[in-house]
Amino acid sequence: MKTQVAIIGSGPSGLMLSQLLNRAGIDTVILERSSREHVLSRIRAGILEWGTVNLLCEAGVSERLDAEGIPHDGTIISDGDLMVHIDFRELTGKRVMVYGQTEVTRDLFEAQDKMGTTIIHQVSDVEIHDLDAAQARVDFTTVEGERKSLTADWVAGCDGFHGVSRKTIPAEKRREFERVYPFGWLGILAHTAPVNDELIYANSEHGFALASMRSETLVRHYLQVPLTDKPEDWSDARFWAEFKRRIPAEAAARVVEAASIEKSIAPLRSFVSEPLRWGRLFLVGDAAHIVPPTGAKGLNLAASDVHYLYNALVEAIKNGSNKGVDDYSARALNRIWKAMRFSWQMTTMLHRFDDEDSFAAQMRKSTLRHLSESETARKDLAENYVGLPY
Ligand code: FAD
Ligand code: DHB
Repeated sequence: MKTQVAIIGSGPSGLMLSQLLNRAGIDTVILERSSREHVLSRIRAGILEWGTVNLLCEAGVSERLDAEGIPHDGTIISDGDLMVHIDFRELTGKRVMVYGQTEVTRDLFEAQDKMGTTIIHQVSDVEIHDLDAAQARVDFTTVEGERKSLTADWVAGCDGFHGVSRKTIPAEKRREFERVYPFGWLGILAHTAPVNDELIYANSEHGFALASMRSETLVRHYLQVPLTDKPEDWSDARFWAEFKRRIPAEAAARVVEAASIEKSIAPLRSFVSEPLRWGRLFLVGDAAHIVPPTGAKGLNLAASDVHYLYNALVEAIKNGSNKGVDDYSARALNRIWKAMRFSWQMTTMLHRFDDEDSFAAQMRKSTLRHLSESETARKDLAENYVGLPY
C-alpha cells in the first residue's frame, strides 16, 4: 500500500488532520488500534476554543456543531460560596463552544467515510521505519492476522499518550518533561439539567469539583478524588452528596440528582516530549503532550498542532517547500508550553493537595480573591481559557 501521509490513530488529531489534507487533495491512510465503536464510546473533552471551531469549519464538519453546540460567553470560578464571573465576551471579545469530543469524532468519521478515506481499524504491532529515507514505511498486522506495509512521504503520529510514534524517536534524542498530580478526576454523565448556565470550576475545603454539561438535559460533572479510588467506590448517592458539598450553595440548591450513565476516573498529568519531528515523522496531540483537564486544553491543543502541521504538509506536498515542516516542532511547542503553564496554574489554583500545609490553602484563597477583585487577573485567565491565537 502507498499513500502521501500515513496517519497513526483515529482520535480527534488523526481524523481532523486527515480530513483537512483530503480536502486539499492530499491522500491519507489512517491506521487505528481500536474498533470504531470503542473510539466513539470514549467520553472525554467538552469545551472547544473558537480556533478549534474554526478549524472544524475549515474541515467541512461544522453542520451539527453549528446546530447543537452551545456557545458560552463566560464561566464561574468559585471558592466556597464566592462566585467569580469570568466574562469572556467582555474581557476578550471571544467565546467558547460546549460540544463533546465524542460528537467531534463522530462528525469527522462521517465526513471521512463520505470522502472515501481508508481507515483500517483494529491494527496491531504498528512499526514505523525508514524515517530518514526518501519514503517512510509503516508495518502493521490486520485484524485478520496479515502483516502489511504502507509506504508514505510523511507519517503523522496521532496515536495518543500510549502510542508507538513517540517511542519511535530514539530515547537519547527525546527530552521529556513531566509532572504527575497526586489525585484524579471522577467524572459522571447523567440525564438531568445543568446546575448553572455556565460551567462552574469550584475550589472548596473538600477539594475541587466541576459542573459541566453536554446539552440542556445532559450533564458532565467531575470531582477531585484520591488516585487510589475506583469508580465502584462512588455510588451515585455518594457522588451527588459530595458534589453538592463542593459547589456554591446557590448552585447546589438547583441540583436535580439523576442516575449516572457513565462513571470513570482519569489521572492528572502534565507531560511534553520534544522534539515533535523526527525525519519524516511528526507527533501531534496527546502523542506529544498531556495537560491536566482543568483548563480544558487537551483537545484544543491537539487542534492547534493539526493546524500547524496541516499547513506545513500542504506547503511541502503542493508547493515543494519544506519550510513549514522544518518549523513545525518549534511553532507548535511555543503554543503548547503556554497551554501547559495555564493548565498547571488552573490545577494548582483549584485543587487540594494531600500533603499541603496551611499556607497552600491560603494561597489558593487569596488567588481567587484577587481574581474576584482584579479585572486584569480575570482578563489573563479569560485570554488563556478562550485560547491563545495560532
Ligand atoms: P487520542 O484521542 O488519545 O487518540 C489516539 C488514537 O490512537 C486512539 O484512537 C488510539 O486507539 C489510537 N492508537 C493508540 N496507539 C495506537 C497504535 N499503536 N496504533 C494505532 N492506533 C493507536 N481533555 C479535555 O480538554 N477535557 C477533558 O475532560 C478530558 N478528559 C479526558 C479524559 C480521559 C480519560 C483522557 C484519556 C483524556 C481526556 N482529555 C480531556 C484529553 C483529550 O481527550 C485529548 O487531549 C484528546 O483526545 C487528544 O486527541 P488525540 O487524537 O491526540 O489522542
Ligand atoms: C469538561 C472537561 C474539562 O476538563 C473542562 O475543563 C471543562 C469541561 C467537560 O467534559 O465537559
